[in-house]
Amino acid sequence: MRTVELIRKKRDGGELSDGEIGFLIAGIASREVADYQWASLLMAVYLRGMTDAETISLTNHMAKSGRIVDLSAIPGPKIDKHSTGGVGDKTSLILAPIAAAAGILVPMVSGRGLGHTGGTLDKLESIPGFRVDLDLDAYRATLAASGLVMIGQTAEIAPADKVLYALRDATATVESIPLITASILSKKYAEGIDGLVLDVKTGLGAFMKRLDDSRRLAESMRAIGTGLGLKTRVLITRMDQPLGNAVGNALEVAESIACLRGEGPSDLVDLSVELAAEMALMGGRGSTIEEAREICRGTIADGSALARFRSMAIAQGGDPAAIDDPNLLPKAKFTYEVKSPSSGFVSGLNAESIGRATMLLGAGRARVDSSINHAVGATLRRKIGDRVKSGDALCVIHADSEGESFEAAVELVLSAYDFAETRPTIPASIVEKL
Ligand code: URA
Repeated sequence: MRTVELIRKKRDGGELSDGEIGFLIAGIASREVADYQWASLLMAVYLRGMTDAETISLTNHMAKSGRIVDLSAIPGPKIDKHSTGGVGDKTSLILAPIAAAAGILVPMVSGRGLGHTGGTLDKLESIPGFRVDLDLDAYRATLAASGLVMIGQTAEIAPADKVLYALRDATATVESIPLITASILSKKYAEGIDGLVLDVKTGLGAFMKRLDDSRRLAESMRAIGTGLGLKTRVLITRMDQPLGNAVGNALEVAESIACLRGEGPSDLVDLSVELAAEMALMGGRGSTIEEAREICRGTIADGSALARFRSMAIAQGGDPAAIDDPNLLPKAKFTYEVKSPSSGFVSGLNAESIGRATMLLGAGRARVDSSINHAVGATLRRKIGDRVKSGDALCVIHADSEGESFEAAVELVLSAYDFAETRPTIPASIVEKL
């Protein structure tokens, strides 16, 4: 097979066969297909798109570029959740222990934060000692013992994705629905799961800001997931304002623990329970979503979800004292209240601006290799629909140093808020389910 002919075929709008896609993916490791040829192919895919058959084939070959983890020795339904990312989105930390306590095995391979959005691994690493670099044997053992496990991508999981993602980043081809679908699903498929619940975000703080684009991604994920033989459920949910009140790694862990204790903010608890209930239902726990929701809420009320989280943290090296007393999590050097310049109601709270403000404080990374500060971030005191008086605290900033970045973060937080004289209607957080 000649690579140049395959590039020409895709460039001219043709459909690549499974054998041709398999050859191209195998060519990454064997070096038979040069990076510049893949870069050209990626642009051809970006411009021409892919049929569902091509995307299923691409996802399958990317997953098989590494190992598909065999979890068959651990009895029970294995179901994961993936979110396309947002600000303050710590639902994984809440729903995974809930689903595990409800009888679902949750093997999770997660990512790190990039840009204004956070990542599960960074949040978990704010628990002293917590390790996300388990090998696949420890991954299986933790899953069997605790019912859930959360690790980072290992060299064995979809290695072709790592190469292609770096090439996409350098060639302006990240924003392609088939490429995003294949990238996400190849890693999830390799985890060894039976089913996947996907939370596709839409709105100001999301990767896809327009509902049309989010819907196209959601439909692609569902079609390709199903084509791979995974049970797949997709929810499109709002990411206009941050989820919950905490943004920043240790602050988000503390808020997640509060949710597992039954003391969390309702927007965050409700979405986490809904996603966990979809996982539970998919795994045969409950015969309706209402029943699954009740089972999941019960795991918060009886403490079993928190016990699962604690058990996973211990298995992964984390200090349980920090879970029993979240005051032991990393703390910023000082806090600063951002005060409201207006009276009335909060009518807008731009999640991306809040995410960028916390990134300026050091909570997120601008580049994949930047280091982060687990302690810093923001706690929102007012969200959309809340009444506010001039001078009231809108948000508490947790920072380690004053200076230009701190000043810029304060300005960004202020600019994130809009005010109105009347209480705005708050749209439902779940836009639709597929
Ligand atoms: N997350 C991924 O893992 N891949 C993408 O392409 C986009 C988001």
